[in-house]
Parts: sequence; C-alpha cells; structure tokens
Amino acid sequence: MTQKILVLPGDGIGPEITAQASRILAACQARGLDVEIEEGLLGGAAYDVHGEPLPAETLEKARAARGILLGAVGGPKWDRIEDLAKRPEKGLLGVRKQLGLFGNLRPAITYPQLAEASSLKRELVAGLDIMIVRELTGGIYFGQPRGIEERDGERVGFNTYVYSESEIERIGRVAFEMAQKRNKKLCSVDKANVLEVTILWREVMERLAPEYPDVELSHMYVDNAAMQLVRAPKQFDVVVTGNMFGDILSDAAAMLTGSIGMLPSASLNESGQGMYEPCHGSAPDIAGQGVANPLATILSVAMMLRYSLDAPTLAKRIEEAVGKVLDDGLRTADIASEGTRTVSTIEMGDAVLAAFEAL
Ligand code: IPM
Ligand code: MG
Repeated sequence: MTQKILVLPGDGIGPEITAQASRILAACQARGLDVEIEEGLLGGAAYDVHGEPLPAETLEKARAARGILLGAVGGPKWDRIEDLAKRPEKGLLGVRKQLGLFGNLRPAITYPQLAEASSLKRELVAGLDIMIVRELTGGIYFGQPRGIEERDGERVGFNTYVYSESEIERIGRVAFEMAQKRNKKLCSVDKANVLEVTILWREVMERLAPEYPDVELSHMYVDNAAMQLVRAPKQFDVVVTGNMFGDILSDAAAMLTGSIGMLPSASLNESGQGMYEPCHGSAPDIAGQGVANPLATILSVAMMLRYSLDAPTLAKRIEEAVGKVLDDGLRTADIASEGTRTVSTIEMGDAVLAAFEAL
C-alpha cells in the first residue's frame, strides 16, 4: 500500500536542509519505497501565508501521513508576535499534540570521524551511543493552568508541571523496550527530591521495572544528569525523562557528538505514525547562506524508514552513506576540523546521494 509522506520545510535553514533530505527520499522511492510525497506549510512560513502557524490544511495532511519530515520552525522575524498561540513554535507543538506524538527518540551518536569536532576530549566521547527518550506531549509544556496575569498589583507568570500515571507509563514502556533492544540499561531522570510530579514519575518507572527483568533501571536527578552527561557520558545507554528535562538534556547530548547539526529525532504515537526532524533549530543566523548541515535531516529520513515505514535496509543504507561521506573528509562548517574539506549544504547532499547510489 502506498504510504503518504508530508514534508514541512518550515523556517530558517529548514527549506535548505529538507531539500537535501528530500533528494534522498526520492532515491529511496526509485529503489522501490512505495510512498507519495507532498509538502505543506508550518511555523512562520505558514503564519506569513495563513496568519497561523498550523493551518487546518497542514494538520489534515499531517493526519493522513504515515511519516512527516520537518525542517525547523521559528526565527527573529516572528519573535514579536504578541499572541503566543500564533508563534511558529506553537505550530510544531500543535502537530505533536494533535497527532499524539508522545514518544520522542533522540539518539546521540558520536561518529568516530567527528570525535575531534566535539568540545569534549576525544576519549570521553569517542564511541558514544546514547538514546534519549523524551516525553513530548505532556509535562510543563502543555499543563494547565498557564498564563501571565495581574495579581496584587504586579504581573505573575505561571505554568503547571503535570503528568498522569498513564502518560508516565506509556513513555516508560517505550524506554524499557528501547533498552531491551540496546544495552539493557535505562536511566530515568527526574527531580524527585523537590517535585511531586516526578516522585510519581519515579514510582511508575519502579512499578514497570519487574516487567522488564533484563533491563537495569537507575534514577538520577536532572541536575546531576546534566553534570554526568558532560563528565562521563558513556555511562548512559537509554535515558528516559519528561518533556522539559528532555529538551534541555538532548541539546547538551547533541554537543557531545560534535555538532547539534548531526542529531536526528523521531516523535511517535501508539500507531507508529511519526514526525521526524533534526534536533537543531532553524538557525536564522546562517539561513539562506547554503552552509547548513543537512545530515541530521538526512538521518531523520533514515529514522522514518526504520520506525514508520518498515524499511530498515534502506535506513541502514542512508546511515552508511553518511558514514562514507564523513570518511571521505567532507564536512559542513559546523563539523569542520583540521584536514577536512568544508562543503556547502548542497555539496553535502550531492555527496550523500552519490554514496547512497554507490553502496
Ligand atoms: C525541540 C525544540 C522545541 C521544543 C521548540 C522549537 C518548541 O527546542 O524540539 O527540542 O522545545 O520542544
Ligand atoms: Mg530543544
């Protein structure tokens, strides 16, 4: 059966990097991947045309798609929109929420070729392979009540950090199952020394543990986890945490790999429908210059093939092609180091495509 793919280039460098990833997707199509690809507007790009970051038309296309490939959203151009609900980021959060994409997988893998590009010492990061499992449709990002209001003569801002047992349980299961497929170590990150919501989080993780006897479960407070990630990152295998902690820790983990420009991600719901996006943002400072790193987006296509389209062989082929290009010494500016050749976004796309075809 032909599956639908929706490409949402978004803002900033989004259109440049999704253009390269789309070429790889087309190459997969040519090799028999049975998909139909369409494009849509999200974020600032959608706001400029429709006056809202998630137009009904885009949501409808997203619901119908098995896989969504997203570039990035946001930028200074839209930072002054008064109504928070119309900001580009709300478009992204809207797709996540509306499609129930609660399970966010953020693998941080240090390619041996890039260990020099990390700001940490080579021996700390070489061979690193962590999977951060971030809850994506709950927690403080979505909790009610929220707002800014006048109280006793001054303005007060407030958000609510809330998780139900069922929300914790379903992300916990994703993480335990992930650990079973990997090195069988799961570290749950919370702030159970201060926050009730994460006391419950810890309890639920403990309750699930006996169902996964082969997985070794540990717990860590988020402040310590931030420190351990930069002190001795290789102690981690799978990390599971809530929405906001996961947002923060995954950026830190990204830098261990050399550049945030290398990190793909998958956001899945219970039926395996998913949105795939690079973890980096829209990088407005380099947008339009043709220098952005398309590899995280290309690797996101590989994740889509693996998790939503059941095409692991093609996924592996893309990953190998990326490895080959790095072996050949090609680098976009963000991962360049001595002795490598700095290439543009398009040249990087060309090289991955050529390596993909040659494998
Ligand atoms: C991410 C981003 C988003 C988030 C923003 C753009 C809303 O930082 O995907 O990590 O906070 O989830
Ligand atoms: Mg983030």
